[in-house]
Amino acid sequence: MAKLKLAVIVGSARKDSINGKLAVALSRLGSSAFEASFIAIDDLPLYNQDLEANWPVSATRLKHEIAAADAVLVVTPEHNRSIPALLKNAIDWAARPYGKSSWRGKVVAITGTSPGAIGSAIAQQHLRVILGNLGALVMGGEAYIGLKPNLVDKAGDVPDESTRGFLQAFIDQLAELAGLLARRAA
Ligand code: FNR
Repeated sequence: MAKLKLAVIVGSARKDSINGKLAVALSRLGSSAFEASFIAIDDLPLYNQDLEANWPVSATRLKHEIAAADAVLVVTPEHNRSIPALLKNAIDWAARPYGKSSWRGKVVAITGTSPGAIGSAIAQQHLRVILGNLGALVMGGEAYIGLKPNLVDKAGDVPDESTRGFLQAFIDQLAELAGLLARRAA
C-alpha cells in the first residue's frame, strides 16, 4: 500500500530549533506509514488582507502542500504562552481566501517542546482551539515533550527509550487516524 503523505510544519525557523529536531525524529519514527515533507513557512509575507489581491506564490505553495497531505503534523515551541507569530501567520494564510480554507477536514496532530517548566502546553492548547475552530480534525490526547539535553541526537533519533516509545505511539496514532480517513475518502 502507498504511504500516507505527511506535511510537517515547525513553528520555529531557527537554524538549531529543538522543535525542528523533534519534527525530524517524529518523521523518522513514522516513516513506515508516512512519506514526510517539511513545509516552509518562513517565506510567507506577514498576512495583510490587501495582499490577497495579488496572492503570494508562497501562500499558494503552502495551500497546495497542505491539500496534498493526508495529515499535517505541527511541532511548535511556545512564545509568550501562545503559539509563535510565525506559525499563526502560516495558519492565517492557509485559512484564506474566505471559503477556501485549507484546514477544514484536515487531520492534524500537535506537539512541541520548550525548556520552560510547563513545556509548550499552553501554546499547544491555543493551537488546538485555533485549528479546531477552523474545522481541522485535531487528534486528541496530549504530547508535551519535556526538553532534555539529548532529546534528539545528531542522527535524528530519540535515545531515551520512554520518550521514544511515547513519540512512536503518538505518530502511530496519527497514521491510524489518517489512514482510516484516507481509505474512507478513496
Ligand atoms: C520563548 N520561550 C518560551 N518557552 C516557554 O516554555 N514558554 C514561553 O512562553 C516562552 N516564550 C518565549 C518567547 C520568545 C519570544 C522566545 C524567543 C522564547 C523559550 C522557547 O521555548 C525556546 O527559545 C525554545 O528553544 C524555542 O524553540 P526552538 O526555536 O528551539 O524550536
